Amino acid sequence: MKTVRTAALLAAALASSVAQAQNTGKLKVGLMLPATGTFAALGTAIENGFRLHVTEQGGKLGGREVEFVKVDDESDPAKATDNVNKLIKRDNVDVLVGTVHSGVAMAMAKVAKETGTLLVVPNAGADAVTGPMCAPNIFRSSFSNWQPGYAMGEVVAKKGHKKVVTITWKYAAGDESVRGFKEAFEKAGGQVVKELSLPFPNVEFQALLTEIAAAKPDAVYTFFAGGGAVKFVKDYAAAGLKKNIPLYGAGFLTDGTLEAQGADADGLLTTLHYADSLGTPKDNAFRLAYAKSFKLQPDVYAVQGYDAAQMLGIGLAAVKGDTSKKAEIAAAIEKAKIDSPRGAFSVSKAHNPVQDIYLRQVSGKENKLVSVASKSLADPGRGCKL
Ligand code: PHB
Repeated sequence: MKTVRTAALLAAALASSVAQAQNTGKLKVGLMLPATGTFAALGTAIENGFRLHVTEQGGKLGGREVEFVKVDDESDPAKATDNVNKLIKRDNVDVLVGTVHSGVAMAMAKVAKETGTLLVVPNAGADAVTGPMCAPNIFRSSFSNWQPGYAMGEVVAKKGHKKVVTITWKYAAGDESVRGFKEAFEKAGGQVVKELSLPFPNVEFQALLTEIAAAKPDAVYTFFAGGGAVKFVKDYAAAGLKKNIPLYGAGFLTDGTLEAQGADADGLLTTLHYADSLGTPKDNAFRLAYAKSFKLQPDVYAVQGYDAAQMLGIGLAAVKGDTSKKAEIAAAIEKAKIDSPRGAFSVSKAHNPVQDIYLRQVSGKENKLVSVASKSLADPGRGCKL
């Protein structure tokens, strides 16, 4: 009896691995996202968005039923290589989706490049992922850190501000967001007079806020996100700075955070590739479906998750789910116009979205559209050789 059962189990295991090798079985999607820490809510929104698109496709991408394997990456770069190797080697995933944190995403991109595994990055903006680390099998459904920063540099210069202090977390995303801002702001004649930072994910802002008060700049530019952004906006207001020194940020400062920030966020201007009041048929349908499914309002992270699934769907449909056909998958995504709730976009040569960056202003619980700050803004893709 025991041997019969063992034989049956073996046969089933064999059948499933054969199906996978032939790319006809379930499509194993490795979701590597933060489920804990300051970015936990961002991970949830990305997963929700991704699942929404898959559900709309009848649970399938490229004709294959989707099965998820999940890892909590804790936004910890030190654990990233182990985590991604678990998904690839232990779980045998067909495709990788992740993550939020730039440092973790760079570790994922390195492994994806070495193993040829298809990777879609649904948030992390690390410029290198669509720069020096670019690869035919690596795509991003979100943005590069340079993009919202650069757009805001132009906005702040146009407002007539001359001297700006920047403040952020000291890691790739913060550094690159500030670099993008500075590039545009200084090109337009402004000057970044001080660059303040603290280690990720610290939220002890007090000493730095005192430095800002003493420096008396015309304005402040910041990159913070998730739980850290909630605390920064509240602390900035509590320190009495909000009424004296205008605060500008990459839109993550106020996306998915307004419930917790309350009146302290009111009026803030930020730049991002999404806004809450776009009012297009695609966005309206997405927002309604998301709210129905998850009893939550969507944010930029939900959009990026949804679009990661759309991009994978487009690539896999072109090869009928055969993930071994890497060149054909890439070609299909490269020539697609992705029908995103943010507005349709295509990808650059380095596989980063070429997209409108909106100027938004917080009003109540929404990031309301003010204007298009930068039309069809393409990351320069510096260092990408494809
Ligand atoms: C990043 O680490 O690249 C990052 C994290 C959170 C955001 C945006 C970018 O909201």
